[in-house]
Amino acid sequence: ATPSAARPAWLARKYPEVRRVRGDRVRELYNRRQNHCYTSPIYREKVAIIDRKLAERFGDDPAVILWHIGNEFGGECHCELCQNAFRTWLQKRYGSLDALNKAWNATFWSHNYTEWSQIESPAPHGENAVQGLALDWKRFVTHQVVDFVKMERDAVKAVDPSLPVTINMMYDYYGYNYSKFRDVIDVASWDSYPQWRAGDNAALAADFAFEHDKIRSLKKQPFLLMESTPSATNWWPVSRLKRPGMHLAASMQAVGHGSNSVQYFQIRKSRGSFEKFHGAVIDHYDGNDTRVFQDVAALGRRLETLDQVGNTTVAPEVALVYDVENRWAMENAAGPRNCGIHREQILAHYRALWEQGIPVDVIDEEGDLNGYKLVVAPMLYLLRAGFSKKLRDFVEQGGTLVGTYLTGLVNENDLCLLGGWPGEGLQEVFGVWNEDTDALWDGEENQVDLDNGRSYKAKELCALLHGRGAQALGVYSRDFYAGEAAVTVNRFGQGKAFYIGAFLEQDFYRDFYRKLGRELEVKRALAVELPHGVEACLRENQEEAYVFLQNFSGARQTMALPAGWQLLSPQGLSPQGGGNSVTLAPYDSQTLWKRK
Ligand code: GLA
Repeated sequence: ATPSAARPAWLARKYPEVRRVRGDRVRELYNRRQNHCYTSPIYREKVAIIDRKLAERFGDDPAVILWHIGNEFGGECHCELCQNAFRTWLQKRYGSLDALNKAWNATFWSHNYTEWSQIESPAPHGENAVQGLALDWKRFVTHQVVDFVKMERDAVKAVDPSLPVTINMMYDYYGYNYSKFRDVIDVASWDSYPQWRAGDNAALAADFAFEHDKIRSLKKQPFLLMESTPSATNWWPVSRLKRPGMHLAASMQAVGHGSNSVQYFQIRKSRGSFEKFHGAVIDHYDGNDTRVFQDVAALGRRLETLDQVGNTTVAPEVALVYDVENRWAMENAAGPRNCGIHREQILAHYRALWEQGIPVDVIDEEGDLNGYKLVVAPMLYLLRAGFSKKLRDFVEQGGTLVGTYLTGLVNENDLCLLGGWPGEGLQEVFGVWNEDTDALWDGEENQVDLDNGRSYKAKELCALLHGRGAQALGVYSRDFYAGEAAVTVNRFGQGKAFYIGAFLEQDFYRDFYRKLGRELEVKRALAVELPHGVEACLRENQEEAYVFLQNFSGARQTMALPAGWQLLSPQGLSPQGGGNSVTLAPYDSQTLWKRK
């Protein structure tokens, strides 16, 4: 790895500009790491020098196969260098202050800017209500970090352009828009530290499966699990040891979702300082007769039998749209429910697909929809330029789209779309007009009665819909909008578009996607019911397919083994006959194989 994330004290003292300035405009003292200014010319110069020297010294060592740039890029700097770079970025984006003022609707509260120098990044004691500014600042920060990574990439590639580069991304990190790094890195990688609990870990497993899928989908090719711990994670409030099996299940989960590696932070525990108690392959005790070392060795033996898996990938027919710019804007929207935009609303859809073993790509509004049968796009509040057309074309040409409440409210500058929601022609695609959205306090509920005879609790957000050609599949049963459509479907062109008007309880998503998945004959890892907490991940190429089964339920589970699949024994190199069922101990992982 290049050392840019952790610099020496002398450098921070000699060149104060390398130290980050916080949002409150206080320059940090020298401390910790991952806190340098991304704009500082001096820091860029010094980093390029040491990166190049490293590449010259180690680049031709056969053990060096990949450069890991920096470490867990994160955070923002608000120094004057960054402010000026931001203004330059804005000038390029808008051309004139007039255009910028329009894009930010800056006339509101008389916030029109008359000089570029008046523009400052958002601050707790400064501007924090001009949403267009906040959105553009985040876009700029991503741009600046991408530019920094490019600088480091160019430094190491100047010595040997054939060595690939990566950056290690983080769980649910959305301080930056990771998809903007797609073309800068050769391989995607990330650091996974789930807080496994006793017993049933199904919800957490689905949550981390989503992260794996997100990282793989960045480049739509296998990724690397850059960091994981073989035992405890010392920065959690409680450093719980991994229960027997969990190291195996968590590692194979990454492989099943497309990782071509299982790697650790860290090989050996350091003697002192902040991470001395963090899990590692080698303990301070220094022997190989520890439970953790043996766990790692056993996993290594199993992975050795799965070498060919590296030539397969995950090829989903379903895409879930999760767009970071949309999330930035939605969380800062000031209405309709300021405490109510959260990850669970996306995961509700994902989990229902995961429970059926349906492979899913997690893409954003820059993504290409071609080739998918089903596109699930929850809460597409902000429509980035061109995306509504992609959705429209996708449905028109025979695709199935699922949208929800809070769709198509604003354009990419966070300016409300006029003429009714969902905007930009999506009313026609969904066949509904979303006149208004009711926000419910925590604990308040409505109910949706579906045409399958079941009723589901609705919470947090309920869209008030008018049919514009769509057929109602479910109606609200309470309050002043009782009897009005809550869930609809509309035929548009060759395809159809569902609109789920409210945030519903999990059973709804489970029932809805089970039915839809079967109807569309969407690819599943296995054509069987999966027991609770057992995930099935499919990796394949033209010739063969693997299914990775992980049991996160905390209990023993037995399931049917469909015809054609053989169980790969953990020790054996060759497939064995599997019988017609497979049993998984708690946190066990089994691999199935099939020639296509
Ligand atoms: C992060 C960092 C590592 C280490 C681990 C500890 O992922 O990249 O350097 O600090 O956390 O969990």
